[in-house]
Amino acid sequence: TSARIIIDPVFTVAPVNRRTFGTFVEHMGRCVYTGIYEPGHATADEDGFRKDVLELTRELGVSVVRYPGGNFVSGYRWEDGVGPREGRPRRLDLAWHSVETNEFGLDEFITWCAKAGVEPMMALNLGTRGVQEALDLQEYSNHRGGTALSDLREQHGASPYGIKLWCLGNELDGPWQIGHKTAAEYGRLAAETARTMRMIEPDLELVACGSSSSQMPTFGTWEREVLRETYQFVDYISCHAYYGNDDGDTASFLASAVNMDHFIDAVTATADHVGAELKSSKKIGISFDEWNVWYKDRSRLTDGPHDQWEVAPRRIEDEYNVTDAVVVGNLLISLLRHSDRVAVACLAQLANVIAPIMTEPNGPAWRQPTFHPFAITSRLASGQVLRLETDSPTVSTAKYGDVPAVDAVATYSEGELAVFLVNRSSEDTIDVTVDVSRSGVTTIQEGVMVHDADPLATNSAEHPDRITPKPADSRLQDGQLTVTLPAISWVALRLS
Ligand code: AHR
Repeated sequence: TSARIIIDPVFTVAPVNRRTFGTFVEHMGRCVYTGIYEPGHATADEDGFRKDVLELTRELGVSVVRYPGGNFVSGYRWEDGVGPREGRPRRLDLAWHSVETNEFGLDEFITWCAKAGVEPMMALNLGTRGVQEALDLQEYSNHRGGTALSDLREQHGASPYGIKLWCLGNELDGPWQIGHKTAAEYGRLAAETARTMRMIEPDLELVACGSSSSQMPTFGTWEREVLRETYQFVDYISCHAYYGNDDGDTASFLASAVNMDHFIDAVTATADHVGAELKSSKKIGISFDEWNVWYKDRSRLTDGPHDQWEVAPRRIEDEYNVTDAVVVGNLLISLLRHSDRVAVACLAQLANVIAPIMTEPNGPAWRQPTFHPFAITSRLASGQVLRLETDSPTVSTAKYGDVPAVDAVATYSEGELAVFLVNRSSEDTIDVTVDVSRSGVTTIQEGVMVHDADPLATNSAEHPDRITPKPADSRLQDGQLTVTLPAISWVALRLS
């Protein structure tokens, strides 16, 4: 079987947005404790940060990290996590049925971000709290000094944090959320929070909560009602999506990016509809601030008896296989293709909790198979995202009908072309011919593939490199690039 793609650097979508390569650190399970932070660990630095995890975070090519939740943030008091550690309270975390020690908080997170070379994206508690607490957190974080809260930060030894990106709450449409709200209740609160935060700093970038998933009964109406209230005060609306293969429908699972494409298009249309109603020329962007594959470990709240409250219990530690990695690679293709509207995207999460990086307490850190497509895409995508013409055989799926087996995106920067391709067929090898003659490239500089004869192969502490990128099977002659994509594979090429 074969497919054909035409690339022309003249047909651009938008510049590659570095914030597409964000991730997420939530106070959940072992993401923070024994994930990024473990003072007693052999690699711990003077702040208690695991250096092995810091190194992997840099290798992953992460640009921005959302923090501190997630569902956790909707019951969180940010003051608990600043200043001297001795005075910090232990609290019940209702979202994940555990105990939060507050050993790690805002001050530590900002220090960690500087070491990891990432931008912080701060989520506000609009579940149990409101406008005042949001303004307090902003003053503590960003004000230059000479006021109670900015002076408190200085006393804690820190200069202004300069946090630009803020999430106005988390998944408030979800009945599981602490402080769950209707769209009308949330829309007003988000609008007032945004409006008053801009009284301190007009140039913040603010994200209103969209739906927790496109399957929510209120999907579409939630976005419309929230944006009607917040349109003039916010920059982005959020999308969250997790894809799974728990029903064994691998064909549909492999086509998950079709759903992501629809999701982004639907939210874009809804935002533009509200813009039209308001006669506004402003465009609302999308912050896809939680996305991933997640289906193996659904232990959301308790693993054991209800009266058991543990510190950093193991929660949703999915072990990913190579098929999951191919889907993650395809979801990145979808996000890049929508770079004209997707301003921020965060792979949820960074360490241990449905994460590309796994650790053992007092033990090693290793890369899940999903680490590789993310790291490679982040490293190779640059310049302008290109609009491709693709002619591909189709695969039938129960959830999405017939979908193209081959999906692809490309980026172009100063004579360098990066092409990302996926074969979503579980049966057929596909030879793809890519016409690159209009981009003037003559040499394949690099070609890597994520694939394995065993589509269920995984990595583990004992076998951390069972799945690593392999050389791609590709040739370039007379402006025609030929790539052989085995069934269930993801490939990235760099040409010049
Ligand atoms: O990432 C795990 C959880 O998924 C987040 O806390 C929540 O926002 C979403 O439901």
